[in-house]
Amino acid sequence: MLKLGILISGRGSNMLVIIEKIERGNIPAEIACVISDKEDAKGLVKAREHNICAFFLDPRGLSRKDYDKLIVYELKKRDVELVLLAGFMRIISPYFVDEYKNRIMNIHPSLLPAFPGLHGQRQALEYGVKITGATVHFVDYGCDTGPIILQKPVPVLDDDTEETLSERILKEEHKIYPLAVKLYAEGRLEVIGKRVKIL
Ligand code: GAR
Repeated sequence: MLKLGILISGRGSNMLVIIEKIERGNIPAEIACVISDKEDAKGLVKAREHNICAFFLDPRGLSRKDYDKLIVYELKKRDVELVLLAGFMRIISPYFVDEYKNRIMNIHPSLLPAFPGLHGQRQALEYGVKITGATVHFVDYGCDTGPIILQKPVPVLDDDTEETLSERILKEEHKIYPLAVKLYAEGRLEVIGKRVKIL
């Protein structure tokens, strides 16, 4: 069974839908651990409610690479094969990317390569696009630049606020993230350069 490690910083709603799909037998995987860089992340509590080992790793005082070494140590100790960033609000170091090449996924609230980085939904509103969306991708050395696995478009409505748009995008995130993990767990993702083929 594929072993997952999930990294979060906040409420962990993407993490939760993946936990629930695994529990229902929809994804052939198990969660080895959930790690947060924020002590008060609500997602830690939710993961523990599902009897998943979930803990805080303190980044304070550590360089990016030293913190990532700590995370990778915890992941490898538990034989984690695929790492899921689920609202993990830190940039991953090249060290981490090399240790888990094409084995780290991220969910982002825009149709990449549009609006990378923070506040993808706010950026879409400020730009005035009519369509934005959600993207699941593998993580490479750049910020939200890795090979794209799945995307889902979401319309931007005239009366949208950052909150209403985020909510509409989140619904799609909750569909495509578990699906991408399922495809990976079934061995159906092939990465060829920047392109991901679904077998
Ligand atoms: C999600 O909307 C995710 O796409 C976004 O943070 C939210 C986390 O929600 N991630 C990023 O913006 C990454 N740059 P969640 O904790 O409820 O899954």
